[in-house]
Amino acid sequence: MAAAPQPVYWLGNDTLRVSAALFAENRQRLCKGLKAKDGVVPKSVVVLQGGEQTQRYCTDTDVLFRQESFFHWAFGVTEPDCYGAIDVDSGKSILFVPKLPESYATWMGEIFKKEHFKEKYAVDDVQYACDIVDVLTKLTPAVLLTLRGQNTDSGSICREASFEGISGFQVNNTLLHPVIVECRLIKTDMELEVLRYTNRISSEAHKMIMKHVKPGHKEYEMESLFQHYCYTKGGMRHTSYTCICGTGHNSSVLHYGHAGAPNDKLIMDGDMCLFDMGGEYYCYSSDITCSFPANGKFTPDQRAIYEAVLKSSQTVMAAIKPGVKWTDMHRLADRVHLEELVKIGILNGSVEDMMAVHLGAVFMPHGLGHLLGIDVHDVGGYPEGVERINEPGLRSLRMGRLVQERMVLTVEPGIYFINHLLDQALADATQSCFINNQVLARFRGFGGVRIEDDIAVTATGMELLTCVPRTVEEIEAFMADSAKNFSPVVGSE
Ligand code: GLY
Ligand code: MN
Ligand code: MN
Repeated sequence: MAAAPQPVYWLGNDTLRVSAALFAENRQRLCKGLKAKDGVVPKSVVVLQGGEQTQRYCTDTDVLFRQESFFHWAFGVTEPDCYGAIDVDSGKSILFVPKLPESYATWMGEIFKKEHFKEKYAVDDVQYACDIVDVLTKLTPAVLLTLRGQNTDSGSICREASFEGISGFQVNNTLLHPVIVECRLIKTDMELEVLRYTNRISSEAHKMIMKHVKPGHKEYEMESLFQHYCYTKGGMRHTSYTCICGTGHNSSVLHYGHAGAPNDKLIMDGDMCLFDMGGEYYCYSSDITCSFPANGKFTPDQRAIYEAVLKSSQTVMAAIKPGVKWTDMHRLADRVHLEELVKIGILNGSVEDMMAVHLGAVFMPHGLGHLLGIDVHDVGGYPEGVERINEPGLRSLRMGRLVQERMVLTVEPGIYFINHLLDQALADATQSCFINNQVLARFRGFGGVRIEDDIAVTATGMELLTCVPRTVEEIEAFMADSAKNFSPVVGSE
């Protein structure tokens, strides 16, 4: 029996083995999509430029490299400073690697031959990047297809391949972007396998933290434990985004954890924790939020808000299937939140009327969820022809299209008590008429609750990728067990 092919990526132990076939399939799908696209002529050649190694400001200190996402999707190459070409007619691929100076062998290690990369990445050919003009000229391409297009989350334009001598070729930079984005939107079986893995490891890391957290710890200790678990158990050198470890009032700060608010508060008895963290493996992301009381026991108010959010998460998940509008899912979450806030007594009146004045966005100013893949906010949310709805809340939604099978999405409803949004609503007669300010006053300083899961859309519904305790009872039972079951990763085994 033939031995199984070597994985292109595997960090040993129990980490996931990923086959180079994942990227061969991606390239093949890209060629198929391009052949079906109006304007793509025979003898077109895709040219992508990989990420470059950069240094910290003006110093010679390297910034830890992470591959550019489109390049990763097509080639799975972990090294910087490469190019890749794909002949659209034949599907043949050429990887261009840098020709490294001899000194590299002294400072950085072995200089591998071209054959090493050809075998490792299972491409059809490997050449040096300095020879790219000669190699491409021999292909006599009618046109080089380069990547230029806007990321609809950041507004930034992706970096188009460029090299000395490219002006000697016919170049088209508009055809490739929409096609490759549509390919990235729909995940293959092999990609889903990696996303299941990133979710499994990140879920385990969140659970370990739920066992470990206690009043008296600093928020950053939880960040550090998460990173340590993901790396030591899962081979995840990067997280998918900056860890958000908000406790108490900080749990209402949507993107807490940045350099100006670096997870540095002491965790107090009575605080809600909102920990939004995801590990990244071989550039594939995860994005999970767990909310729970620091002391392991919900107060009645904490339970009420938590269960309101859980209800909206469960309602949305029950409705997700191919064909539904993601904007409708966002509105559905808002509706459940408002209904539950009425039951709690914070709001009163007709939920229909509250929806008309966008009251839901006061409590959930962000979008319900977003595409997930190689980027945590993955590409493809607003293709040409799909417009962002310019309403509070919905304008922050990163995906405006219909749900499709094989999309991977986050479902992340939340209710937050954000003072300046509450004050704005109270100052607006169309909104304040629904608010019971006396009850609301009790929730000032509460923080917020977000429940964030990652899901893959199936033919008839969805597959839940995240696996953490979610009901109040599950969380309390799980955290109560901490003394018995907590096995710190640090210094264990
Ligand atoms: N962690 C960022 C987000 O949830 O979108
Ligand atoms: Mn998140
Ligand atoms: Mn998210």
